[in-house]
Amino acid sequence: MKKIIAFNWKMNPQSLGEAKKLFNSYLLLYSSSKKEIIVCPPFIYLYELKDLKTKNLKLGSQDVFWENSGAFTGEISPKMLKNLGAEYVIIGHSERRQNLNETDEMINKKILAALKTGLKIILCVGENLKTRKQGKKAVENFIKSQLQKDLKNLPLNSLLSKTTSRKGLSYILNSRLIIAYEPIWAIGTGNSDSPKDAIEIIKLIKKTLNSIFYILNPRVLYGGSVDSKNIKNFLQCMQCNEIDGFLIGSASLQPKEIKNIIKL
Ligand code: 13P
Repeated sequence: MKKIIAFNWKMNPQSLGEAKKLFNSYLLLYSSSKKEIIVCPPFIYLYELKDLKTKNLKLGSQDVFWENSGAFTGEISPKMLKNLGAEYVIIGHSERRQNLNETDEMINKKILAALKTGLKIILCVGENLKTRKQGKKAVENFIKSQLQKDLKNLPLNSLLSKTTSRKGLSYILNSRLIIAYEPIWAIGTGNSDSPKDAIEIIKLIKKTLNSIFYILNPRVLYGGSVDSKNIKNFLQCMQCNEIDGFLIGSASLQPKEIKNIIKL
């Protein structure tokens, strides 16, 4: 399977003109890439970028609401996102968990609603510095608890049609649900996790998904200060094949970085 590189623009850039220009850096290089590329701009640029993109370049949004319509001022429904051209949605980013008090219960509702609408999900999980300092067991417990709460009540039965087997279900979930391990202390700090430690957590995430949610070979990305230089350490280490791709923030705004990452 191709490695995934998802680019999260966060709240950037400030105008549609700049967004189109930035998007162009991706379009120029995309055809030479051996990776699956997903670009996640702010909501308001999705529609315009959809018309510029080539078929294989995917678009994602950075959030979604859990209701389909109604009196929810300022919110964006899963269906609206689909109509705007988003195929993926990032859910549970730590910046939303921390700055907007987004809870696991809210994240769970968003995941269920997005799955129902047919969007593909990039669920972010990851511990803060305090938990990391408490040691490996504390990190494992934290991540496991996030997964259990965020993925509660996955609609296994509705995803599993009468003709598909458990293996089929596993395939459906596998292609619709991606996890991004993003330790909070590594985001935007320039201090990425070590490949060895990240792989340990990624393996734990895979094991948990496997045993609780029947997902065979789930895809798990690493995110947190990934750039064109340190990404090579994550691609060339022992057991690096456990990392199914990357979720990239700051470097996704720099044409030179984009170029060097996409052409890898
Ligand atoms: P940075 O790459 O800037 O650390 O951001 C990572 C991130 O939060 C992607 O969602």
